[in-house]
Amino acid sequence: MHSKLKVMQTENVIESKVVNPLSNDFSKKKSKAKKFLQQNRIKEEIAESGLLSGIVPSLAYECDQEEILKSLNHNFKFLMIDNDVVTYKKMVNIALEKFPDNPPCFHLGNLSEIIFNAKENDFTHCLFDYCKGFEKHRNEVVHTLQNKIVVVGGLVFFTFCLRNPSHEHTAFVNEMTGYSNPKMKLVSIKTYTDVRKARLIEEAATLQAYRTFLLGEIGNERCWRIKEIETYRDGAPMALIILKRVK
Ligand SMILES: C[S@@+](CC[C@H](N)C(=O)[O-])C[C@H]1O[C@@H](n2cnc3c(N)ncnc32)[C@H](O)[C@@H]1O
Repeated sequence: MHSKLKVMQTENVIESKVVNPLSNDFSKKKSKAKKFLQQNRIKEEIAESGLLSGIVPSLAYECDQEEILKSLNHNFKFLMIDNDVVTYKKMVNIALEKFPDNPPCFHLGNLSEIIFNAKENDFTHCLFDYCKGFEKHRNEVVHTLQNKIVVVGGLVFFTFCLRNPSHEHTAFVNEMTGYSNPKMKLVSIKTYTDVRKARLIEEAATLQAYRTFLLGEIGNERCWRIKEIETYRDGAPMALIILKRVK
């Protein structure tokens, strides 16, 4: 009885977050505006950090974010990465056209190769715009935090999607949000007749799972601060996660 009540309370917490106006917004025009806000948010955080030189690895593709950062008059050396050959070639062309005076470095391959080889303080900031499910990249996130791959004051930006039909996603969210009653598990929302409501619940639960996971990884050492976990849309609902290394 007692544990059931606890589960119900947890679900209430999640459902109360469903009223998030960002994830409740399906209009394309507004979605673009939100993406723009998200990109400017990254610029503001970097400006505030005062760290404007050094190496910044990024999943750059069309280099929109890197272009927005131009107005900071920074002295970054971008390391642009893509593991898809066609996208990689497009990215290189776009980057060389957009940044003729400060050509970036490029890596054709998986971002994990860069992260797992990185040591403490190797980078100033990281722009890891995965826009994908989190589960496959969990170890990369852990390595980034544990090995403190950005300098003190540096920022790491991750984007991950908030919905994913995979079993791994459901298992991760259930693990993090601590459901113990099988009837309450996230997987059961697939049986909701109100699909929209089910989606919003999944988004809110995923946001909560990201936060719980990150707090666990940061642990007592507290070398990192979660500056923001914000929803926006880029085709699908996404989370922008901003982490700052504080010591
Ligand atoms: C969302 S897009 C990046 C968009 C870019 N930030 C922009 O604003 O134009 C993600 C890109 O990263 C690449 N990518 C995703 N995961 C990757 C990984 N693990 N390793 C290397 N490239 C990856 C994809 O091929 C895709 O081109």
